[in-house]
Amino acid sequence: MVTEFVSAEGIMQRDEYTRKYTEFSEEQRPVGIQLFGADGPRMGEAARKILDWKQPDFIDINFGCPVNKVVSKNGGSSLLKDCPTLASVAAGVVKAMANTGVPVTAKIRIGWDQQHINATEVCHILEDSGIQAIAVHGRTRAQGYSGLADWEVIDACARTVKIPVIGNGDIHSADDVMKRRAETAISGVMIGRAAMQHPWIFRETKARLHGDECSPTVTPEERWALIVRHCRLAVQSQRYGSERHAMMAMRGRLLAYCKGFAGAKELRQLLAKVESVTHVEDIAVAGLARELAEEEHATQAEESTTS
Ligand SMILES: Cc1cc2nc3c(=O)[nH]c(=O)nc-3n(C[C@H](O)[C@H](O)[C@H](O)COP(=O)(O)O)c2cc1C
Repeated sequence: MVTEFVSAEGIMQRDEYTRKYTEFSEEQRPVGIQLFGADGPRMGEAARKILDWKQPDFIDINFGCPVNKVVSKNGGSSLLKDCPTLASVAAGVVKAMANTGVPVTAKIRIGWDQQHINATEVCHILEDSGIQAIAVHGRTRAQGYSGLADWEVIDACARTVKIPVIGNGDIHSADDVMKRRAETAISGVMIGRAAMQHPWIFRETKARLHGDECSPTVTPEERWALIVRHCRLAVQSQRYGSERHAMMAMRGRLLAYCKGFAGAKELRQLLAKVESVTHVEDIAVAGLARELAEEEHATQAEESTTS
């Protein structure tokens, strides 16, 4: 796992808001903190500061963010267009971490746009700079989050360098992980948006990797319990201020969770208005009752067909 990216400048200015994004708890290890910026020595200093505060298990550098606010300051994916600066940023952080035992990794996209796909070249530069593993998101900056990830380029990256390459893009299920693992030379897979909709993807994948033929299914009880737990954690974290604000921030997450639930359309309408954890608990009780009733109905129908 990697924290949400933080600006090296924000770290250097001891910005409290930036600092909050680097929070993690001990049971979340191994965890990396991800930095973005365009100045190698400053990035290195920021990484040292982070190490003093939090002792993450690794430092990751973001060369993939497509957002204008980051790109306009020469951060994130803009460095894919400027390989000398990319190399100096990577080398700056690696140098600052030398003798600390903390590895430095990087996350890239396959290129700026379809006409400038240079991921294999970038992987070589990163490897030569001392980066110890690279996550490759198989989209260009121009694609944002749309279109499909290009796993041929990811595979080419994995074959061109000696350090581990972790493939990323459009992994929706344990089957997807198994397929990419079988068909490419990647050392690992990074799961992005699927984790927000279906966090059980990790345990399902783990079961498959351990040789289980089928993934363990998620029960309606488990799904609703996780939703309520996530809401409680969001309120407890105090990251959003009041309970109402926390729940407003959670609405998008709740909508993602309920995709594929029984009566998803009505659920979405209810969840889009939640203002308290109690409110979500009430929806959970009703939602669970409905799902269980539907399951029982389906079992009875199946039994009457077979008899
Ligand atoms: C809301 C959101 C926030 C993201 N934040 C980060 C980030 O801070 N650092 C990063 O490297 N990638 C970030 N990503 C990109 C994902 O890690 C991943 O590369 C991308 O979603 C493609 O994988 P997927 O197709 O499995 O979702 C973010 C993606 C989304 C949708």
